[in-house]
Amino acid sequence: MNKKVILSGVQSTGNLTLGNYLGAISNWKKMQEDYECNYMIANLHTLTIRNNPETLRNNTLNLLALYLAAGIDPKKSNIFIQSQVPEHAELNWVLNCYTYVGELSRMTQFKDKSAKHADNINSGLFTYPVLMAADILLYQADLVPVGEDQRQHLEITRDIAERFNNLYGETFKMPEGYIPKIAARIMGLQDPTSKMSKSSSIPNDSIFLNDEPDVIMSKFKKAVTDSENIVRYDTENKPGISNLISIYGAISGKTNAEVEKEFEGKGYGDFKKAVAECVIEELRPLQTKYKELVSNPEYLKQIYVEGANKAKEKAEKTLKDVYSKIGLV
Ligand code: TYM
Repeated sequence: MNKKVILSGVQSTGNLTLGNYLGAISNWKKMQEDYECNYMIANLHTLTIRNNPETLRNNTLNLLALYLAAGIDPKKSNIFIQSQVPEHAELNWVLNCYTYVGELSRMTQFKDKSAKHADNINSGLFTYPVLMAADILLYQADLVPVGEDQRQHLEITRDIAERFNNLYGETFKMPEGYIPKIAARIMGLQDPTSKMSKSSSIPNDSIFLNDEPDVIMSKFKKAVTDSENIVRYDTENKPGISNLISIYGAISGKTNAEVEKEFEGKGYGDFKKAVAECVIEELRPLQTKYKELVSNPEYLKQIYVEGANKAKEKAEKTLKDVYSKIGLV
């Protein structure tokens, strides 16, 4: 029986957060048994901001090590680096010509990022969702496991695919998003009304996957809450506590109601400590494995070389079909 195909990726911008982990990577591992998984390191996407070349190279390999440390098994899943499969950039160009400026202008992430980087609103930032569409459509992905913030990018991917299929006949499979019920949008610890982000400028707002246990504990202890002192899920009136409940629930597998029950009669001090402890324990094996892997560049190279070869085989088929359909000789 043919397994359904999965494609997802994370940008190699360094310093991944607990949001990236709970919203995306931790779910990838669970999908390896039942799906044909392709997990990509999105290093081309990072070019929309200015990177130091050496840092980008390191971040790319470090992210590969992190995928492995998080339990992505190269025997079960194909792991590759986006720039090593040139078909991504090639399909990106073609799809750019089937994407309207109007629809790209509506992307909220473009608006947010342009506001953040007002001195560098480059055209790559604008057409960024088209490269993401190329990533997904090249592999004929059925499902794309991502956090809530990527929903709009999945919708435009489907619009582009549908437009192309209507013009040239069935070429791309229609991908669906796979957005977790809990933890699809982990919020900042200091500003629980904004998503936890790699680039937050507020101190103690984000938990990074390489934070030491005492740093994690201290960040949770300082997390913004409210004055009620009752552990209750209510995103509108209690965004800070609700966020902590989501984090605790995502890791422990408990529902909001179960978490509320567990902490009935206990104050925020106890609850914050428990959340911090469960995050520390969840990240501990990952951090240990990560340290081992980053010191083994030969092994990492073997994974990404094999990964790129396998990815290329799949991507080539789709690109050939596209080129032939649109009349490229
Ligand atoms: P990126 O690198 O910004 O984020 C990687 C993944 O983490 C999720 N995420 C979150 N989930 C929950 N709470 C948060 N606070 C949080 N912050 C981030 C994101 O939703 C994402 O799943 N464009 C993509 C990378 C990409 C991609 C693709 C993804 C490139 N090509 C093809 C899927 C398919 C991005 O910038 O994600």
